[in-house]
Amino acid sequence: MTQAPARILVVGSGAREHALAWKLAGEPGVDEVVVAPGSAAIGAEPRVRCVPGVDPLDPGAVVGAAREAAAELVVIGPEAPLAAGVVDALRATGIQAFGPTQAAARLESSKAFCHDVAEAAGVRMARARAFEANEGAAARAYVAELGAAGGGVVLKQDGLAAAKGVAVYDDAGLAVEHVGSYLDGRGPGPALVVEERLRGREASVIAICDGREAIALPASRDHKRLCDGDLGPNTGGMGAYSPLPDLGDDAVERILATVHRPILAELARRGSPFIGFLYAGLMLTEDGPALLECNARLGDPEAQVILPRLAGALGPVLAAAAARGLAAIAPLAVLPGAAVGIVLASEGYPNTPKRGLPIAGLEAAEAEGALVFHGGSIGRPGGGYGTNGGRVLTVVGRGADLPAARAAAERAADRISWDGMQRRHDIAAALPPGAAVVVGAAS
Ligand code: AMP
Ligand code: GLY
Repeated sequence: MTQAPARILVVGSGAREHALAWKLAGEPGVDEVVVAPGSAAIGAEPRVRCVPGVDPLDPGAVVGAAREAAAELVVIGPEAPLAAGVVDALRATGIQAFGPTQAAARLESSKAFCHDVAEAAGVRMARARAFEANEGAAARAYVAELGAAGGGVVLKQDGLAAAKGVAVYDDAGLAVEHVGSYLDGRGPGPALVVEERLRGREASVIAICDGREAIALPASRDHKRLCDGDLGPNTGGMGAYSPLPDLGDDAVERILATVHRPILAELARRGSPFIGFLYAGLMLTEDGPALLECNARLGDPEAQVILPRLAGALGPVLAAAAARGLAAIAPLAVLPGAAVGIVLASEGYPNTPKRGLPIAGLEAAEAEGALVFHGGSIGRPGGGYGTNGGRVLTVVGRGADLPAARAAAERAADRISWDGMQRRHDIAAALPPGAAVVVGAAS
């Protein structure tokens, strides 16, 4: 087993990065985790220090922070620094980084590129075509063609849009009317991806990758809509759970063999090997799993329920992957039981979240045994925390099974409040409606 990196820099400041810093800082052999820029709550974890002044989108600033921290490994949390080329800059100066280069991160930053790679790799995705700004007529015709096939259509903005650039239509006529809003004012290159709508249940399968090899993290499921019953607008995610009763370990391994590894091989063939967390957003359809999207990072809130389930140390595995040595690493051991995460969001999220409100009940929630990961909070001058973003907290309950973990998460989330707080009450309550795809035993 590769040695644990003693000093690690985590880039980012959300609840996913809080979970990463918490996990890594608690592992044997780790002296300090530095988080750039981090937050007051992240910096309150034992053996974690934040460097608030660092702009995570500035490759030079991140290299400077890694040097200053004497980091043996840098782990990048969010997508934007990857797309900005932070990993390229780190590797150019000889610093070990776990995350894809700007070129490999196009898997997430361009949906058209993802479709192209998946097709070349023989990975099943929804039928789709990409259109440039001047191809409105062709795009409308394709929407109408998919609509006539009867299954509904999906319009996706090409480029990073934090889950807000996707709209799913039952009514292709309405989608035709909206095509213009995706194309107007866009420059050259793909602007819009039109996809056939797939039906089933979604699942997130994330793997640690070293450019060739992939090791699975436990499967999870995100709840993307704002309101109970999967109603309301799409968000970055309002809660998540792991494991999945309808996607067991055998199925996850099959997904790695049919999705992740072929994509890794195709990217390597193109000269852009992918090192990092490769996130496959899947639809479990009646005909088997289909890839909806690739992300080049851990999911948020998926990370908050996955990382607490790992039985062993993560740092040495990420270090081995950064050094292209995953072949020598055993599969990750997972704790028995389940984890459920509930996101607590501000009034106005996902559009214009209200900020600056004091948060009550954090200590009571932690006293319930829950983990509370901060994504959008700020330290208050007199102590305690206030809201400072859309998705403010993820409250994670653990238990012997999903119902027990869900009860623990609900109990803890019930303790926390602020004016206008929004949350769902049905995270992990039942399997979402969809095709009954039960493959393998639950992990
Ligand atoms: P994406 O950013 O591509 O993952 O899309 C965001 C969300 O839109 C997904 O999590 C799905 O809920 C939905 N979605 C995306 N593509 C499709 C599709 N082809 N069929 C049905 N739903 C989709
Ligand atoms: N929770 C979905 C994502 O992180 O993309």
